[in-house]
Amino acid sequence: MSEEKPDADALLKAIAKKPSDYSPGLEGVVAARSRLCQIDGAAGKLYYLGYAIEDLVQHSNFEEICFLLWYGRLPRHDELETLNRHFLNHRALPSEVVPFIERLPHTSHPMDALRTIVSLLASFDANPEKSPEANLHRAIRLTAQFPTVVATFQRLRQNLKPILPHPKLGHAANFLYMLFGTEPDEMAAKVMDAALILHADHEMNASTFASLVVCSTLSDIYSAVSCGVGALKGPLHGGANEAVLKMLQEIEDPKNVETWVDQALAKKTKIMGFGHRVYKNYDPRARILKEYARRLSEKTKFSRFFQVNDKLEQVMQARKGQQGIFPNVDLYSGIVYHQMGIPMDLFTPIFAIARVAGWTAHILEYWQDNRLFRPNAIYYGPPPRPYVPVSAR
Ligand code: COA
Repeated sequence: MSEEKPDADALLKAIAKKPSDYSPGLEGVVAARSRLCQIDGAAGKLYYLGYAIEDLVQHSNFEEICFLLWYGRLPRHDELETLNRHFLNHRALPSEVVPFIERLPHTSHPMDALRTIVSLLASFDANPEKSPEANLHRAIRLTAQFPTVVATFQRLRQNLKPILPHPKLGHAANFLYMLFGTEPDEMAAKVMDAALILHADHEMNASTFASLVVCSTLSDIYSAVSCGVGALKGPLHGGANEAVLKMLQEIEDPKNVETWVDQALAKKTKIMGFGHRVYKNYDPRARILKEYARRLSEKTKFSRFFQVNDKLEQVMQARKGQQGIFPNVDLYSGIVYHQMGIPMDLFTPIFAIARVAGWTAHILEYWQDNRLFRPNAIYYGPPPRPYVPVSAR
């Protein structure tokens, strides 16, 4: 069916009527108040409840970050042990869920599989209670189960048996164990843990906002989280890490970078892994992951991607640095995961494994002072007119 084209003049007139009311992409609009995460985009700094991301990566672990985001403070030793026990008890999926995952086409994108299974998990939650305690418990359970869902799908689509969670391993190491069937070495477990910490939260990003829109209707946490997974999938958001690796494969060699970038920019193509709505400086997460990528590339045969990325950074700095376009987290997460032997289409699900902590923390926080999200739109369609019967059209 052909749609009537928007009348550009009418649009401009409508916008000009109240220019301050319209912000495409809600740029600059403050949509909520939150204590959880602060980005200083000009300085390139990121904090979770006041703690700098660099300190957290160096001294903390993902489980502690989950506690920090859900409870608003760092845990005492016994509190962390309790949370670890909850994670341990909930990592395994309900037995009825695995056959559903088995039935998904092996060609499904793992993000589609994850989104579908989050919805399905709602059906296995028999508790009708909607109290903050019940929802916090759901947040813990969902966060515990995300790695298991992704690893189970990955095993089943390779016609391999799913691996049950390891009772002794932490969250990041458990994911790698369930994926590969062997306990990861210390370096791999640390890098995955760091990646989860770095991706756990990021203020009012598109997928968190999408989750909040859903939760603001007083719908349930599963609906809000599955919506977050859907929003994260897009290449302008979490999907960029997968897109970066495809781009690196296409560029192939550092000597091709300059021509490739210039051709892409001439076509007004966005270079994946660069630019950010909030950061107008180097994304601090990218800086940390770059160091891990460098260390891993020394140990593996994949140093070529690191070299291409390095050159890409130099060329983009020269072409776009002045415009405030710098590397973002996705520029290096992909090559880190690739060097760990993780397939490309699992990169965005790893982002989701981390971000589910942030989504649920924001949802729980928002429900403390809920208000329905219902913005306006500027209408620029035709004025009221009489209906024309099909015979007269
Ligand atoms: N490559 C080339 N140019 C870029 C760019 C990129 N990655 N990101 C932004 N720009 C340019 C735009 O072309 C535009 O230039 P112009 O004013 O000359 O037309 C200007 O910067 C502003 O871009 P805009 O798209 O309005 O900014 P935004 O705030 O909507 O974009 C992103 C933010 C993240 C969507 C954008 O930077 C992007 O698409 N990046 C690539 C995808 C990505 O890595 N996403 C992960 C983000 S963590």
